[in-house]
Amino acid sequence: MKENEQAQQALARILAEGITHGDALELLPRLPRGGIDLFFTSPPYADARSYSRIHPDSYKEWFLPFAREMYGATSQTGSLVLNIKNRVANNGPLKGQRHPYVYELVLALQHIGWRWIETYIWAKPNAVPGRFGPRTKDSFEYVYHFARGAKPYFDLNAVRVPYKADPAEIARRKLDRLGRRNTQAGFGRDRTKTYLLGGADPGNVVSVPQTYNQYKGVAHTAAMPEGLAEFFVKAFSPAGGVVIDPFAGSGTTVVVARRLGRRAGGFEIHEHFIQVARQRIAQDVAEDVPGFLSQAG
Ligand SMILES: C[S@@+](CC[C@H](N)C(=O)[O-])C[C@H]1O[C@@H](n2cnc3c(N)ncnc32)[C@H](O)[C@@H]1O
Repeated sequence: MKENEQAQQALARILAEGITHGDALELLPRLPRGGIDLFFTSPPYADARSYSRIHPDSYKEWFLPFAREMYGATSQTGSLVLNIKNRVANNGPLKGQRHPYVYELVLALQHIGWRWIETYIWAKPNAVPGRFGPRTKDSFEYVYHFARGAKPYFDLNAVRVPYKADPAEIARRKLDRLGRRNTQAGFGRDRTKTYLLGGADPGNVVSVPQTYNQYKGVAHTAAMPEGLAEFFVKAFSPAGGVVIDPFAGSGTTVVVARRLGRRAGGFEIHEHFIQVARQRIAQDVAEDVPGFLSQAG
């Protein structure tokens, strides 16, 4: 059997399973080369959780083999969107300072060919207070967008946000024949066009409340809010496209992507998360084509 056929069959199995048990490093090479539209993932952060202890000093070296495999599996218009968080070094010469592992990783990813398109800030309006040394509480995380090629899929219209102005005023502005406004730097912008698009550009700060203990019975300490996955899946993958989360945890990416009409699957190394993730997927939607689910009810 040809290599590509085998890879297509492996992908079909992964999509049918929803969450496949195993090490992403072994599973990623099974994906068809160039067959994935979006990798959206939140890998274990450095030294953070009991399920994975990766020292920040060696984080970059740990992550790069995954990144290389994802690169090979991503389509020319595809992307890798990576949610990752800074930490404070708790030992070594940098003790007490921010550890640079996130920045080291970003530069290393760029170096192996991933095009660094944007840094999004996931702002958490409800971040919990605590004792963080001479600094405020952590109330944001990074979401890095890397693209495989020069023209990645991007649908800004899918993530536009409703205008805050009064609807009557918006209706008036849409008809404005003199919509051009100069910015302070003197550049002209025709704001009428924006109103005709039906919503405002959300900008690169994405505010989504962290949902604590959101899924009863999900013994996962790092489940991301669905709203975060929703934003990036909508913006960076086409309807019907293939979305893979190689560090799937409780399955948030898979649940949300399927709900949005993408074909989605994930990998998870720790078996005890898998049962719950699969349950979540099964409960969320009614299955028709494996890996592609339409909203139940
Ligand atoms: C930050 S959590 C992901 C949480 C997920 N976004 C959610 O909403 O539940 C990272 C996950 O990666 C898993 N993991 C760590 N190393 C892995 C590997 N080599 N292959 C697959 N999964 C891995 C961990 O068990 C953990 O569940």
